[in-house]
Amino acid sequence: MKAVVYERYGGPEVLQVRDVPVPSPGPGEVLIEVVCTSINLSDWENLRGSPAYARIGGLRRPARRILGSDIAGRVVGLGDGVTRFAVGDEVYGDNLAGGGGFAEYVAVPQAALAVKPPQLSFAEASAIPQAGAIAAQAVALAEPGTRMLINGAGGGSGALAIQLAVAKGVRVSAVDNARKSDFLRQLGAEEVIDYTSDDFTRHGPYDVIVDLVAHRSVFAYRRALARGGRCVIVGGTLRTLLRMLTIGPLLGLVTGARLGVLFVRQGPSHFVQVAEQCASGRIAVRIDRTFTLDEVPAALAWHGEGHALGKVVVAVRNETA
Ligand SMILES: NC(=O)c1ccc[n+]([C@@H]2O[C@H](COP(=O)([O-])OP(=O)(O)OC[C@H]3O[C@@H](n4cnc5c(N)ncnc54)[C@H](OP(=O)(O)O)[C@@H]3O)[C@@H](O)[C@H]2O)c1
Repeated sequence: MKAVVYERYGGPEVLQVRDVPVPSPGPGEVLIEVVCTSINLSDWENLRGSPAYARIGGLRRPARRILGSDIAGRVVGLGDGVTRFAVGDEVYGDNLAGGGGFAEYVAVPQAALAVKPPQLSFAEASAIPQAGAIAAQAVALAEPGTRMLINGAGGGSGALAIQLAVAKGVRVSAVDNARKSDFLRQLGAEEVIDYTSDDFTRHGPYDVIVDLVAHRSVFAYRRALARGGRCVIVGGTLRTLLRMLTIGPLLGLVTGARLGVLFVRQGPSHFVQVAEQCASGRIAVRIDRTFTLDEVPAALAWHGEGHALGKVVVAVRNETA
């Protein structure tokens, strides 16, 4: 089968399109014929081996040779003990631990998958699992009528989080680069801040801050929080992560604010509700561009270099309905 493979950390140029064996599904796994896969910031981080936590399991060389964790496709084979799916089922899910989506076939644990809602295309379904789980758990922290700031709001998770929050009656402030301002307002943000020319920690106060690309000090976050407010980081630099885990709780004890890390729980129980809202038309999956499997290096560059409004999708097969 055709797959996009990498053997060392680097930019999109280290990716190669190659012929590799079709994987065999192990116990509890299903073999999926991939129709679409979407790109997450975690793919870009695992490609580059940066931040440092992206090298867990592969300090010098990547442990997994094929990236791509958000997958939508058709079940074509069953490993021992698979009970939830049958050959022919249309499924989608996030194989965050195993990756393998930048390929024509991938073996995925059945526990990571759900049946694709018929109202969603494969492209739309592939754009939801990881970003949807992050968005749902972030928005669950905010109450209707409160002010929530999302930093890194113009990407995959942010675009879903803004819509989920607005639908819940939360007042959203969105931070990203100025090219994304109109997009963020269309999604429902009432305040938009350009991170290239402004400092969101000088605005506020906010009841909840969710940082998807965190690199600020705990004191800066504290400054932007309302009394009793809560700040969580979801991704960002290792330094910020460590500070949030160590200094964050101490600062919280003194000031009453809650500062910490949102460890996102993965799996269908966390993204299916988001997909259902997309299927019903309550919120929308925002796909910026679609690339072919051969174009995965260009797709990762497009995403990683900050052009994308919402999600970037790779159509592995030419059938996205
Ligand atoms: N905690 C967990 O368990 C867990 C699990 C999975 C993923 N994650 C993390 O969750 C995050 C989700 O990201 P995603 O896939 O939604 O990312 P994404 O689609 O790449 O979106 C990130 C957005 O942040 C913007 N951005 C970049 N630098 C920024 C800055 N300094 N200030 C403000 N905005 C900035 C980007 O815009 P431009 O680059 O265009 O400027 C982009 O619009 C990632 O950090 C990932 O590592 C966490």
